[in-house]
Amino acid sequence: MDKAGAPVGQWSSRFAFLMAAIGSSVGLGNIWKFPYMIGTGGGSAFMLVYLACVMAVGLPILIAELMLGRMGRQGPIETLIDLGRRYSGSAAWGLIGCVGVLAAVLILSFYSVVAGWSLAYIPKLLLGEMSGLTGAQTGEVFGSLLADPWKLTFWHALFMLLTIIPVARGIQAGIEKAVVWMMPLLFVLLLVLCIYAAIEGDFAAGMAYLFKPDFAAVTWDVVLAATGQAFFSLSVGLGTMLAYGAYLPANVSIPRTSLVIVFAAILTAVLAGAAIFPIVFANGLNPSEGPGLVFVTLTVAFGAMPGGALFGAVFFVLLAIAALTSSVSLLEPIVAAFRGRSSLSRSTLAWIGGIVAWVIGFLTLFSFNIWSDVHPLGGTRTWFDWIDFLTSNIMLPLGGVMLALFAGWVVSREDGAAILGFESPLLFRLWRILVRVVAPVGVVAAVVSNML
Ligand code: PHE
Repeated sequence: MDKAGAPVGQWSSRFAFLMAAIGSSVGLGNIWKFPYMIGTGGGSAFMLVYLACVMAVGLPILIAELMLGRMGRQGPIETLIDLGRRYSGSAAWGLIGCVGVLAAVLILSFYSVVAGWSLAYIPKLLLGEMSGLTGAQTGEVFGSLLADPWKLTFWHALFMLLTIIPVARGIQAGIEKAVVWMMPLLFVLLLVLCIYAAIEGDFAAGMAYLFKPDFAAVTWDVVLAATGQAFFSLSVGLGTMLAYGAYLPANVSIPRTSLVIVFAAILTAVLAGAAIFPIVFANGLNPSEGPGLVFVTLTVAFGAMPGGALFGAVFFVLLAIAALTSSVSLLEPIVAAFRGRSSLSRSTLAWIGGIVAWVIGFLTLFSFNIWSDVHPLGGTRTWFDWIDFLTSNIMLPLGGVMLALFAGWVVSREDGAAILGFESPLLFRLWRILVRVVAPVGVVAAVVSNML
């Protein structure tokens, strides 16, 4: 039983937990965002920094979050307040959880809009609208979808509904069932797409773009964007993994599980890149096309391959599902945060949280049409750009650093060691150095340098 008197559920098995955690991390961030960020961040320079950030910063903070979740076994804010009191006499640590909840609402708001694009593409493919189109034509199809706020509103609403329902029903019944078989299937489809891209696309150019080291292109902008992407793609920095860790069976090893999650996230992102860029170069498309990249590129391939209409439709179904397993993990900590504090039921809270995020989502939805020329705070960023920048590049990294500092400096060494159960003391020491010093210094340097 948790503080509010509600039973704390547990994942039915280690496998189910793993699938849910992978489901949270693998999503639009890896398949939609990563490729276009690579494109706008200059190719392999971004890739290199991203991989370094994931290993040196993302992984240790993921471990820290799961550890704190297992120690507190409540919603993120309660857990941080309780552990804060226990170890430092201060409940102020709960504030990190509050910022995390805000970040979750903001991310969910644009996530649902983009996932809606994916839903919108399912009927388009099934009806054969993409057959035989050139890159320029698939670009037009995407453009006309974005230009229609009513259509976008419909798909945005549908996706948010799909997110609210499983969360309203509760963790066991809802989330678990969906993820167990769909994640592996998505993975297989990505693999098939890569093979297709290797045969039909300009594989050599795609690979060189992704992997040929180009240290000269590494600027502070790239470093910050890659840092933000590392947090976003692993779902760390806002308490999602902390909320999930609370349901973690005691016999599951946190370090090992974290490695698997990180590996899955990297692999999906790299596969998505390897599927997309050969097609980009073979068709003269623009790698720095921005948020439409996946939609514009892959549909050229689906339009050209035999059975592509069906294959493409299945792909967008799975992309939407990958997004769904991430979006439920954004709504879950929002619900968890309020459960102990209000008498409202889980279901009511899920509806309120989802609807609030849906409404905020219109800032993003309009950024691609009627407000595409609106630049709040001047400059060139639209509302969507600001929300994305603020959450991925500021809130998640700083939230993650605070969690790292808390796990590394405030929680006692003995308790940390006992909860984590690293196989070798050396690895535990390495983890401590990463969360105490390396991650905080690195992330703060990236954020600050960007502000100067
Ligand atoms: N990791 C998810 C993705 O890559 C997004 C996400 C971020 C989910 C933060 C939960 C928390 O798509």
